[in-house]
Formats: sequence, C-alpha cells, structure tokens
Amino acid sequence: MQWHSAGMIIRELNEQDTGAFLALKRRGLRTDPDAFVASLEDDAPSYPEEVSERLRHASVASGDIVLGAFAPHLLGIIAITQDKRTKRQHKADLHGMYIVPEFRGRGLGKTLLAASLARARHMQGLEEIQLIVAAHHHETVGLYERYGFLRVWTERRALKCGDHYVDAHHMILDVTSRGASPRTEADRL
Ligand SMILES: CC(C)(COP(=O)(O)OP(=O)(O)OC[C@H]1O[C@@H](n2cnc3c(N)ncnc32)[C@H](O)[C@@H]1OP(=O)(O)O)[C@@H](O)C(=O)NCCC(=O)NCCS
Repeated sequence: MQWHSAGMIIRELNEQDTGAFLALKRRGLRTDPDAFVASLEDDAPSYPEEVSERLRHASVASGDIVLGAFAPHLLGIIAITQDKRTKRQHKADLHGMYIVPEFRGRGLGKTLLAASLARARHMQGLEEIQLIVAAHHHETVGLYERYGFLRVWTERRALKCGDHYVDAHHMILDVTSRGASPRTEADRL
C-alpha cells in the first residue's frame, strides 16, 4: 500500500530498500545521536542481513511496520513493532522515526507518524503503543502528545552520550480509545 502526500510517496519498505534504510538509519545516528538508543558501534557485522530479513517479512499481519517517505529518494523512516510474546502482544514499540535535516519542518514527520499509527491500529490484539523520547527534544515530545501519547514516567540518565547524559520520557498511546482528532487524520492516509 502507498500514499501520496505533498509530492512525497509514503509506503511500506521491503527488502529492496535495505541499502537505503541502512544509509538513512546510520545518517540519523550521526546527525542526532541523542535521539536514539542505538549506536553505530553496536551494529553486528550481520546487521545488514538482519535488516533485509526483517524488511522481507515486515507487515501489519506480522506485527512489524516499517514505513518510508520518498521524494524520490528515501527521506524519512518510522517503525512500529508489536511484541511477539503472548503476554505482551497487546503492546508495540514505536521507534526509529527520522527525517533528514534538510526536509524537517515540512510536515513529513506528522505524515509518517499518522500513517504508521493508522496501520498499527490493524495489528491483531494491539492495545498500546509505547515509545521513548529524549526529554529535552520538546518539539518532538509535543508532536507525540498531539497524537495522543501520554508521558508515563521520565527516566533519569537514560543515555550516556560521550560526556553528557540524556533524560528520556516514556510515553504510551492507548489505541483502544476512540475519537482523538489525530486518529481521524491518520485514518485518511
Ligand atoms: C522529530 C522529527 C522526526 C520531526 O520531523 P519533521 O518532518 O520535522 O516534523 P514535522 O514537519 O511534521 O513537524 C512536526 C512538529 O515538529 C516540530 N518541528 C518543526 N520543525 C522542526 C525541526 N526543524 N526540527 C525539529 N522539530 C521540528 C514542530 O513542533 C512540528 O509541529 P507543528 O508543525 O504542528 O508546529 C525530526 O525532527 C527528526 O528526525 N528529528 C531527529 C530524530 C528524532 O528525534 N526522532 C524521534 C526519536 S523519538
């Protein structure tokens, strides 16, 4: 499935997108290291094969959505991954949201977020989507709040990046609740 929005194509990534996905993810770890738990040095040598395998199977039915925004190259990514364990299947993690710096502030982040939430609502048994966001990234926290995410707690010193620490908010969206306006927007995509 794909959507067109303001000259962009939003679609689910597949294994052919592995190279572009890895390049974008690595760019994000360089431009915004405070925003992600992952680090470049954590990637195992087998990581490209793992990503390729993941993208081959990614789908709402498999509980793992990876969306990309293209114009025409890949400019932004987002993922929502459902927990596979029986007692945790009601939960999913939203992670890896990244827009290249030169395309920020044009609504791409909102579009990707809305599209991924709309898709995730079709995951079997899903009740909550959770995420972790750097507490000092106020605009990003505000973006999630506008889509219904609530701050549940703040983790002190969640990350240590070189010589400084990053506090992080843990946020949750209840996808069983009805009527929030972002949901209406998401369902249009
Ligand atoms: C967070 C991020 C994905 C937002 O993407 P974006 O395409 O700039 O987002 P949008 O243009 O849809 O704007 C969404 C909101 O972000 C804020 N925003 C706007 N321009 C921004 C910019 N240049 N940088 C950061 N935030 C910005 C605004 O609050 C905006 O809401 P508003 O338009 O209703 O005022 C992007 O800034 C990014 O990739 N940041 C680095 C990685 C990151 O923090 N990822 C989230 C990990 S939890």
